[in-house]
Amino acid sequence: MPYTRPEVQNEIMEIIFQENREILSRIIAEKIITLVQHKPNCVLGLATGSSPLLVYQDLIQAYEKGRVSFRKTRTFNLDEYLGCSTEKDTYRYFMDHELFDHIDIDKANTHFPDPACPKEYDRQIALSPIDFQLLGIGADGHIGFNEPGTSFDSLTHIAVLTEKTRRDNSRFFASFAQVPEKAVTMGLYTIMQAQEIALIALGASKKTAISQMFQEENIACPASILKKHRNAVIYIDWEK
Ligand code: F6R
Repeated sequence: MPYTRPEVQNEIMEIIFQENREILSRIIAEKIITLVQHKPNCVLGLATGSSPLLVYQDLIQAYEKGRVSFRKTRTFNLDEYLGCSTEKDTYRYFMDHELFDHIDIDKANTHFPDPACPKEYDRQIALSPIDFQLLGIGADGHIGFNEPGTSFDSLTHIAVLTEKTRRDNSRFFASFAQVPEKAVTMGLYTIMQAQEIALIALGASKKTAISQMFQEENIACPASILKKHRNAVIYIDWEK
């Protein structure tokens, strides 16, 4: 499948500030719900971590109220750890637990990158382009597990996590030692193929990364590539 770079423009991204993360998450969830209602077989790019949790809760509620069905929807998660000591630490488990087990999605349509053949993920995504990509941002500006220094042209690949990222994510593990050192992640180029991108930045720890992002595009802040996307919106709540 030929791979074409979207026509990128240097536009200023839309930024939505909200001091209430429930409202912020509701805005994003409603966008996703509207997309799925109008295009039931749409493709969603999903993230793990704490940032999207309220969005997932809103999606579950909308499903329970009969407002939306995910029966035909397909998903591609951004990343997956390598070498987790228990299944509960995997992002597959996280997504099942936080979203997939509570909606009517067919799990055969929910995808995670395979560390044995990372590039296969790009081929699959090229065949089912992502309509809406949800992103969090790391305190060092990473998106997916594209750490500072990752090429803007990167495809899905194995990434070595920085100590900072491992420390930040250790809250999800029994101990720091159990946080994997590697992950397989969509590349920055892969992420940029999505039709629409929503990045959620919650909490004061994300301030530095966001301000770096608005400086010149530079691989020192991977999220700064989003400035080149024609339809990326940043949702910010600095509280806590
Ligand atoms: C998770 C992911 C990461 C997180 C980022 C922020 O799939 O790709 O980039 O979005 O590390 O994590 P939280 O939301 O826990 O602050």
